[in-house]
Amino acid sequence: MLAIIGGSGMTQLSCLEISHRQIIRTPYGEPSGPFTFGKVNNREIVFLARHGHGHTIPPHQINYRANLWALNTLRPRHVVAVAAVGGIRENLAPGSLVIPDQIIDYTYGRDFTYFDSTDQPVTHIDFTHPYCSATRAKLLQAAKLAGEPVANGGVYAAIQGPRLETAAEINRLERDGADMVGMTGMPETALARELGLNYATLAVVANHAAGRGINVTAIPLNEIYAILEQAMVHVRNIIEQLVHC
Ligand code: HPA
Repeated sequence: MLAIIGGSGMTQLSCLEISHRQIIRTPYGEPSGPFTFGKVNNREIVFLARHGHGHTIPPHQINYRANLWALNTLRPRHVVAVAAVGGIRENLAPGSLVIPDQIIDYTYGRDFTYFDSTDQPVTHIDFTHPYCSATRAKLLQAAKLAGEPVANGGVYAAIQGPRLETAAEINRLERDGADMVGMTGMPETALARELGLNYATLAVVANHAAGRGINVTAIPLNEIYAILEQAMVHVRNIIEQLVHC
């Protein structure tokens, strides 16, 4: 089964023929909402809205541990995380899609690991390549089949939010090597690795990052959701192919 975590602009998956919803409790508390089960092109999918059904949970208050733990109990073959980002790299214009291959964590104060108990041996995970190469390859193949252009690779800077960045912060992220910036990539990506999930991100560029492109004075917040809504058509086209890949 394929699992999709929907981000901003994707609180539901409209191509999904819903069969049922299920609440899954975890030792880490409640996930962002019930899991929605159904079929896309006759293949099983489970969907979770990361910010809750009504998009009410801000990025720093998402219970990432509960979300990933609950997902893992369903043993999905692949987990695709759809996530809105700001574009730092010049060719990442609003509306474009990217499959990042690296991530830098600037978040703080979030529950970021399952390995924090003192009654088990200290556990480290390898995180050299943070995204699953097989899941990335499937996403790339699905995008190709759907005829949807996606950028292959890029560095995702995970920042705390919920405020957007200053122009100087974006310059710093760029000096660090970041191509895009978002608020939910961490700890989600690391928790997926701790659980051994095949996880990759499909990032949707909602806006030029602060101080970039046409956003020299400010980011037009009222335009972000319209951009995301348009881009989700392309995301859905990719998901419709992904179920066969
Ligand atoms: N910055 C951080 N997160 C984001 C942005 C941004 O510009 N756009 C969408 N998510």
